[in-house]
Amino acid sequence: MTAPTFTPRVFSGIKPSGGLTLGNYLGAIKRWVDMQGQMESVYCVVDLHAITVWQDPAELRDGTREIAAGMIASGIDPSKSILFNQSQVSAHAELGWIFNCVSRVGWMNRMTQFKDKAGSNAEKVSLGLYAYPSLMAADILLYHATHVPVGEDQKQHVELTRDIASKFNHDFGEAFFPLTEPVIDGPATRVMNLRDGTKKMSKSGESDMERINMLDDADTLVKKFKKAKTDPEPLPDNLDDLAGRAEARNLIDIYAALDDRTPEAVITEYAGAGWGKFKPALADLSVAKLAPISTEMKRLMNDPAEIDRTLAQGAQKAREIANPVLERTYDIVGLLRG
Ligand code: TYM
Repeated sequence: MTAPTFTPRVFSGIKPSGGLTLGNYLGAIKRWVDMQGQMESVYCVVDLHAITVWQDPAELRDGTREIAAGMIASGIDPSKSILFNQSQVSAHAELGWIFNCVSRVGWMNRMTQFKDKAGSNAEKVSLGLYAYPSLMAADILLYHATHVPVGEDQKQHVELTRDIASKFNHDFGEAFFPLTEPVIDGPATRVMNLRDGTKKMSKSGESDMERINMLDDADTLVKKFKKAKTDPEPLPDNLDDLAGRAEARNLIDIYAALDDRTPEAVITEYAGAGWGKFKPALADLSVAKLAPISTEMKRLMNDPAEIDRTLAQGAQKAREIANPVLERTYDIVGLLRG
């Protein structure tokens, strides 16, 4: 099999289940904004993924618009990137089915995110939740994407995407799908919970004080950072000395990511400082960087028809790439076309 060269292209997505968190912003969207000028970029609100767990239909529609507004307010420019919601491009579900037939049950059984989400209730969760990673592989491979910028928690799913591409290419004797690279870099690939630095910040934690929501207003941002869990020690002058201080390390990483600096630069500046100095500085920085985004998000969400138009136009552009890839896949598999 001779491997073709694939044009560099980015694909990534966010589920519209619950609002956007600082983890989504720093671990994903902010990095997408940086990549959009570098290569062709496709960014997707993955609504078909959201319904793997129950979603109220009206909330799902609003949530889809909210995520799109968050992406645009953060700097994703729909005239530079393709921005759409997944269900408007039916090729995702169709290629997902093909990949369900390529993926092995044993591969799905290894997915740690499924195990975490299903917990002891694995018999009762939807079949869609189990098959989720093969739909995610379809999202990526439908665009022959070569780069997938994600947070650390998605690494295993992107690696599985490589396994699926590789098995498909091998089974059908044609190097049709690229072996995609996860792009996991920068200081905030795993933003942690503000009340427990050993847990990931997520949209579904018990208390709102655990996370920063992208729609939080300035007062809420200040309150959450001031109340964030820390320890009694002042900040050291190097990152190694933060080992075992998960909450402290998390706040340094958040500061660095918000300010486009390295964690090393931040710890050097604040060496010896107590939390009474660092936390207000972090709170001020978060207001300066995040409040303009939440203001713009709210403005965009006041005009849902405009968001819907933007997503529909993006879907049109997405179909132009996706449909020929799906057609060729059907052809390779031997599915008869009229
Ligand atoms: P989702 O919706 O859970 O999260 C969207 C993106 O945000 C990142 N992220 C974080 N990064 C750092 N720290 C955190 N605390 C944090 N929380 C979330 C995630 O890593 C992700 O990059 N399965 C995906 C959506 C998806 C997708 C795709 C992604 C579907 N198809 C194809 C890439 C390519 C998910 O549930 O992400």
